[in-house]
Amino acid sequence: MSIIKLLNKKLDRTIFTTPSHNQKAYFSKNLQEFYKNDMSEYVGYDNLSCPKSAILMAQGKIGDILGAKQSFFVTQGATTAMLAAMKAIINPGDRILAARNCHKCVFNGLILTAGIVDWFMPETNEQWGIYTEINTEKLDKTLAMNNYKAFILTSPTYEGVNSDIEKISQICKKHNTYLIVDEAHGALYGFNSKLPKNAISQGADISINSLHKTAGGLNQTAILNVGYNIKNMDIELFQQSLNLFHTTSPSYPLLSNIEACITYLFSYKADKDISNLISEIEKFKKELKRFGIEFFEAPNHDVTKILLKKQGISGGELSESLFDEFQIEDELNNNTASLFLTGIGTTKNKLDKLKSALKKIKTNESFEPELNEFQPHPLVKLQPVDTFNRDYMYINKNKSLFKISNRLLMPYPPGIGILYPGEAIQEWHLKYLSEDVDVICS
Ligand SMILES: Cc1ncc(COP(=O)(O)O)c(C=O)c1O
Repeated sequence: MSIIKLLNKKLDRTIFTTPSHNQKAYFSKNLQEFYKNDMSEYVGYDNLSCPKSAILMAQGKIGDILGAKQSFFVTQGATTAMLAAMKAIINPGDRILAARNCHKCVFNGLILTAGIVDWFMPETNEQWGIYTEINTEKLDKTLAMNNYKAFILTSPTYEGVNSDIEKISQICKKHNTYLIVDEAHGALYGFNSKLPKNAISQGADISINSLHKTAGGLNQTAILNVGYNIKNMDIELFQQSLNLFHTTSPSYPLLSNIEACITYLFSYKADKDISNLISEIEKFKKELKRFGIEFFEAPNHDVTKILLKKQGISGGELSESLFDEFQIEDELNNNTASLFLTGIGTTKNKLDKLKSALKKIKTNESFEPELNEFQPHPLVKLQPVDTFNRDYMYINKNKSLFKISNRLLMPYPPGIGILYPGEAIQEWHLKYLSEDVDVICS
C-alpha cells in the first residue's frame, strides 16, 4: 500500500502517542490536510529508521523508478542526505576530493567525518560568471596522485551545467574512488527526453536529489540513492548513517510527498508537463532574443534553469529593477547575468510576466559590465575537522593576509563557500571581509 493510501485510511483508534494534535489543525486551519496526515510510528504505520512495510515498499518502488539499488527518503533536505552519504563512506583520515563549487553541506560533512579534503576547481565561464563542468582529464590526473576514497561534485550546478557523469564514474572506478553526485537541482532528470539521464543511471555510486527545488515537492523532501555499482558496501550502513542524522520523528506528510512526487514524475502526465514547460521556455527565449536578451546555452545545459543577460544592464541591476518595478524575484545574479529557476509548478503566465518585464527594463547603451571573478585555489591550512570550536581572535583585515580564517565567507544562494574556516586569507578575499576579521589562534 502506498504511504498516501495508508494515510488516507480512516484511523480507527484513539491515539495516546505523539503527535498530540490528533491530526487536527487547532491553530492553523488551512493546514488541515497536513495535520490529517501527520501520523507517527503507530502500529502498522512503519518506521523510517528501520522500514518494513509501507515505507520500505515506497522506497523500493521509487528506487526502481530512479534506477537505484536502494533509495532512502529524507525529510530534512539534501543537506541531511549528503551528511549521511558522506558518513557512510568516509572514515576519519580518508582523503576526499571535492569540487569547490559544492554546497556548504559538503564542508559540514567533512567536519563530521574527519575526512581530509583536497579541493578540485571546476572549469569557469567568465562572461556568464559561472562554474561549468568538471574537466575529466584533469580529474583523471588528480585522482592518480592520491588514494582518494571519494570524489564529490555538484551536477547539475545551480545554473544547470551538467558534468559528464558517465565518464567521471568510469574514471572514479578506475581509481577505486567512490563517486557522490549532489544532484539536488536535477530531480527531473530521467523523466523527460529533453533532460539528461540521472546520475545514478550513469554509474554514480551515490546521488542526492532535492525534490522541492525543481520537482514540485515540499521543502525538505529529498532522496539519497545508492547505485548498483557500489561494491563492498553494506546498504545497511546507509540506513545506520541516516539514523545518525535523521530525526526520530520524521514527517509523514513529507514522506508521502516524496512518494507522490516521484510517482507523478514517472507518469505520462509529468512527461507531458515537462515537455510543455520546456517548449514554453523555448518560445520565451526565442521572443526575448529579439529584444537584446542573451541566454546561456550549451549542449550540457539544463534548459529549465534560465540564465540570461540583457545588454546595457548588469545582472545585479536587472534583478533590482525586476524586484522594485515588477515584483519579480530572481534566484541569484552576478555582474553580467541573472538566474531564473523553473520546474514543476512554473506556469506560462509566470513566464509571460517575466517576459513582459524583461522587455520593459530600462538599459544604458554605454554600460560596460565588470568582469566576473572567481575565487583563487584555496590554501587549506587546517582540515575542516580541526576548525570546529577553535579559539579565535579578531584582527584588522590589513593584518589578516595569509592568516587562518575562522570565518565562513559565502554568498547564499548558491551556498558555495569562497573562504572556509581553516583556509588562509588571500589577497582576493580582502575585499569581501569586514574591517575586523576572526582568525584561528594557532
Ligand atoms: C547543490 C545543493 N546541494 C545541496 C543543497 C542543500 O539542500 P537543502 O536545502 O534541501 O538541504 C543545496 C541548497 O541550496 C544545493 O544548492
